[in-house]
Amino acid sequence: MKKIVANFKMNKTNNEVKDYIMKLLPKYEKDKAEIVLCVPFTAITLSKFLLDGTGINIGAQNICDEDDGKSTGEICGSMIKNCGADYVIVGHSERRVKFKENGRIINKKIKLALKNRLKVILCIGETLAEKNTLKTNEVIKTQLEDALKGLYENELDNIVIAYEPIWAIGTGKTPLAKEIENTVKVIRKVVADDFSDKAGEKIEVLYGGSVDVKNIASFSKIKNINGMLVGGASLDADNFSQIIKNIR
Ligand code: 13P
Repeated sequence: MKKIVANFKMNKTNNEVKDYIMKLLPKYEKDKAEIVLCVPFTAITLSKFLLDGTGINIGAQNICDEDDGKSTGEICGSMIKNCGADYVIVGHSERRVKFKENGRIINKKIKLALKNRLKVILCIGETLAEKNTLKTNEVIKTQLEDALKGLYENELDNIVIAYEPIWAIGTGKTPLAKEIENTVKVIRKVVADDFSDKAGEKIEVLYGGSVDVKNIASFSKIKNINGMLVGGASLDADNFSQIIKNIR
C-alpha cells in the first residue's frame, strides 16, 4: 500500500485541525493508502484523540537534537511520542535553510527519534542551482550519508526517505517522472552500498514537492517510489481526500 504523508507545516490552530479531521474522516477510504498527518506540535494530542482507531497516523514536524531538559522552547522525542505521534519529519529543507540544520544535527535528531520509537521521515533534496549544475546525485549522496551515519541496517525499517527537490516545494514546478525515477535509483543505490542490496530495495522512498490533485495519478505511476509527501495541497480536507482517492 502507498503512503501519503501530509505536512501541515506551520498552519492550523487546534480548532482548524478539528474541523479538518471532521471533514476528512467521512471521505477517507481506509484501504487506499497509509496516511500520516504531520500536524504542528500543538495539535498532536488533539489529533491523536480524534483519530484513534481510524488507522490514520500522526507525525510531528521536528524533534530536538538534545534529550536533556536544558533546551528552553524545544520538544524532545519522548514528549512527541507520549502525545501520540508515531512519526517525525527530520531534515526538511525549510529547517535546513532557516534553522541552519546540517548533516550532523540531522543525524543526531534521527538517532533520538529512533531511540524514542518514532519513525523518521527524512527529507533530502537539491536546490535549483545544484540541479542546473548537475550536482543532484552528489547532494543526495552527501545528505543521505550524513543523515544515516552510524545507524544499523535494521533501523532503516523505521526510516522513510522523502525526496523533495527544494525548487519544487510550493512552486508548482515538478521534476519529470523520469528524473524522479533516476534520483530515487540513486537513493536506493546509496543505501545499498552503505548497508546492503536488500536494504536498498526495501527502504521506503516518497516524492514531495508540488504534489496536488492533478498530478497525483501520474506521480503514482512512478515504479520505484512508495508514496508522496504533500504540503500545500494537504491543507484542505476535500483536496487531500481527492489526492488519497487518486493514488494508484
Ligand atoms: P508542497 O507540497 O506545498 O510543495 O510542499 C512540499 C513539502 O515541503 C512537504 O514537506
